[in-house]
Amino acid sequence: MNQKLTARYPSNIALVKYWGKYDNQLPCNASLSMTLSKAFTETTLELKEKKTEDIELNYVFENETNEKFRTRIVTYLSQQSEFSELVKKYAFQIHSSNSFPHSAGIASSASAFASIAALFLKASSQITNENEFNKKASCLARLGSGSACRSFYGSFASWGELDALPGSSNEYAIPIEDIHPAFRTMKDAILIVEASAKAVSSSKGHALMKNHPFAAARFEQANGNCRAMVAALKHGDFPSFISITEREALSLHAMMMTSGEYYLLMKPGTIQIIERVMQFRKESGLPLCFTLDAGPNVHLLYPESIENKVHAFLEHNLREEVRSVIYDQAGTGGVIF
Ligand code: DP6
Repeated sequence: MNQKLTARYPSNIALVKYWGKYDNQLPCNASLSMTLSKAFTETTLELKEKKTEDIELNYVFENETNEKFRTRIVTYLSQQSEFSELVKKYAFQIHSSNSFPHSAGIASSASAFASIAALFLKASSQITNENEFNKKASCLARLGSGSACRSFYGSFASWGELDALPGSSNEYAIPIEDIHPAFRTMKDAILIVEASAKAVSSSKGHALMKNHPFAAARFEQANGNCRAMVAALKHGDFPSFISITEREALSLHAMMMTSGEYYLLMKPGTIQIIERVMQFRKESGLPLCFTLDAGPNVHLLYPESIENKVHAFLEHNLREEVRSVIYDQAGTGGVIF
């Protein structure tokens, strides 16, 4: 009766950031991301015979048991009525690994929770329609980690209710269909500046938006940026794409620097890279821009057409600040096999 399913779901990089949430993992503003391709989590779920009344789950990440993430999944499973029958019936063995080095400091909860939600949904439901499955799985993934809900669709997805996007919702992400061909093959070179764990978790950062003096303005700014980004992606408008993406990255970090408990996640190397990217763009006129996650590492975004020039720029100008580079690109979403 053992059943085994494997899923591979990608990470995503937010261009318009989700930062601040209400209860039940509902976002304070709409966000929009590019789904990645090479940075993914592969997870195998095995359903086994159950021995006790409790949720029985064994979680192995890259050949080691991980008690912290196991507890997070157990709590997650216990809260989703969708999985209650499955949880009553089976014990679970999960093996998970990332395509990127664990030490790279890349946020992996998006790809991890996308794969977990998709596997448990697959194991507990009969949904065969792909659109219906992704919508439900995206909603379930959101309840595990907000950004995970956007990893179901390529090449760009948005999450959060927005008048400019029919069908958008706070509960799940939707794909952005109308993308100019120049953006469909966007590249993302992830520059690892520092690989150590974050000093302040994203959960804490979201919580600090509750009493943030700039919260209302920030949520409004993000919604406006989402609308403008939807238009930029549609029209192949690189100048708008660049200014929205970089403003969003700096706004995210500005929120951290100005919260009640303020903190700073950028490192000297982060600033050096940002300055050189801006200088390079000014001198070359090429559409290269940066974004940041909640950490010191920098994502460089550029169209495929200038790939060689960006590689040369990286090689000649950023060698000292960058520990390693993961060359990624816009991807298509996840698979279960
Ligand atoms: C800065 O999705 O990691 O990456 O919902 O608490 O799991 P939880 O938070 P998480 O926050 C991501 C924050 C961000 C921006 C983004 O991906 O939109």
